[in-house]
Formats: sequence, structure tokens, C-alpha cells
Amino acid sequence: MRKTLTDIQQMKTRGEPIAMLTAYDAVTAGLFDAAGVPILLVGDSLGDNVLGLGSTIPVTLDDMVRHTAAVTRGTRTALVVADMPFMTYATLEDAVGAARRLMQEGGAQAIKLEGGQPMVPIVRRLVECGVPVMGHLGYTPQSAHVFGKVRVQGRSAFAARRLLEDALALEAAGAFALVLELVPTQLAAAITSRLRIPTIGIGAGPQCDGQVQVSTDMLGLRDDFKPRHARRFAELAQLIRAASAAYLAAVAERSFPAAENSSSMDDAELREALEGLG
Ligand code: KIV
Repeated sequence: MRKTLTDIQQMKTRGEPIAMLTAYDAVTAGLFDAAGVPILLVGDSLGDNVLGLGSTIPVTLDDMVRHTAAVTRGTRTALVVADMPFMTYATLEDAVGAARRLMQEGGAQAIKLEGGQPMVPIVRRLVECGVPVMGHLGYTPQSAHVFGKVRVQGRSAFAARRLLEDALALEAAGAFALVLELVPTQLAAAITSRLRIPTIGIGAGPQCDGQVQVSTDMLGLRDDFKPRHARRFAELAQLIRAASAAYLAAVAERSFPAAENSSSMDDAELREALEGLG
């Protein structure tokens, strides 16, 4: 049985930390799912982390639908949340169409979108249509060109107040959870204590109701990149490099494939097949 919105809300009520990870493919998502990660986010960080696009902005709805479907196929118990890509929810009609594809074709159980009070009519409409919506405030990567630089948001009293008001507005519009990205710890704690719905932080300190990490960061798959908010729980880049070198060496010295990696046939059958060929 998949986790439901009620399960996630109950985790907040019980004070049980909510772990979320990004996932982009069936195999890795299956491993996260088997480990018991309750929420998997098919993030549009797909762009930087899988597709080599350098940012989230070029990620298309087709990309998201395809990867969401893979994650859904590879999992059984996690709640799968799919990011609405850049400019696919600028109008109510676009938002409804994009959410429809992510849920009907991708199999997502919820969607995530970025932005505060201007997103309220969109969130309300999606929720009315039966689409569970996760909000995303603070540093929102789809607005990278507006921000100019990746930096902590809400440090001034004015910006902090606006972030809190955005959070309350998204909750009132029906969002079931809220990602807080690059928000000062004290502000994230103040927002968390004022919301009924769970906050899930990334670079927002330990007092959020949950944490999300980009799985490639958490697994150490890109060792040329380590954001401050990330912790490596594995060093997969090193393992993959070592495995590749070992494979190259084994092929070069013909120790791979060995007998157990190969198959054989009856010698008489081969002789017959080659008869008369010289
Ligand atoms: O796309 C993504 O990976 C995200 C997380 C950073 C929350 O939105």
C-alpha cells in the first residue's frame, strides 16, 4: 500500500521526521522505496542531475511524465510527488493539463509547484480537481534568473514576513505540504510551528517536519559538486570510477568474461554449422 496524504500528515502530528528523496528512475527509486523512504519526489532537478541540462528550466513536461512513470513503476509504498516543470502552470488551464498528465500518464499521487501567494488560485483549482499539491518556497530553482544567485531567502524582516505569509496562504489554498529551500533555521522553525501541514526542508535547518535531499547529492554521485545543505551518505562517484577502471582492466587482460559469464554449445552442432566453410 502506498503512503497517503493522511499518513504524511499523521507523521507531523506524531512528531515523526519525514524523509523525502528525489528519484528519477525505476531502479534507484525501487531501492529507496524498499528502504522505506515515505515520499519520493520526481524533481525537475532531473535537468541538472540526470539529463545534463545544467538547470531545471529546460526540463519539459514530457521529460517529467516519462521519469515519473518510471519512478511509479519501480515503487510500491512511497508517495510519488512529481514536479510541475517551468512554465507549465502559468495559467489555470496549463496547470490542470500538466497535473493531469503527471497523474494519469506518470502515475504520480501528488504534484509540486514553486511560488507563494501568486500561486494561490492555481493551488486552489488543482485541489478542487482532486490534485494533492505540495508547495515550494524560499529559493525556488525555476526562478534562478530572477534570483541571479543561489542564496538563502528570507533573512530580512520584510522577506521573512512575506515568506511566512506565503506559507500560510498556500496552506489555506489546500496545499498538503511545503518544501522550504534555503531558508534560515529560525524562520523555518517559525513557519513550521505556525502551519498545520508539514514543512520539508532543504537547507532550512533541523526543525522542519521533514527533510529532502537531492539523491545524487546524498549518494555522492557528482563529486565535483557539494552544496552546503547536502550531506553525502555514500561516495558513489568514487565507487563507479573504481568499478569502471576494474572493468577496463579485466577486458584488457581478458579475465572478463569468465566461464560463468559465458555459455557453450555442443561441439558437434558447431562442427555441423561450420562444415564446408573452411
Ligand atoms: O527538483 C528538486 O529536486 C526539488 C528539491 C530540491 C526539493 O525541488
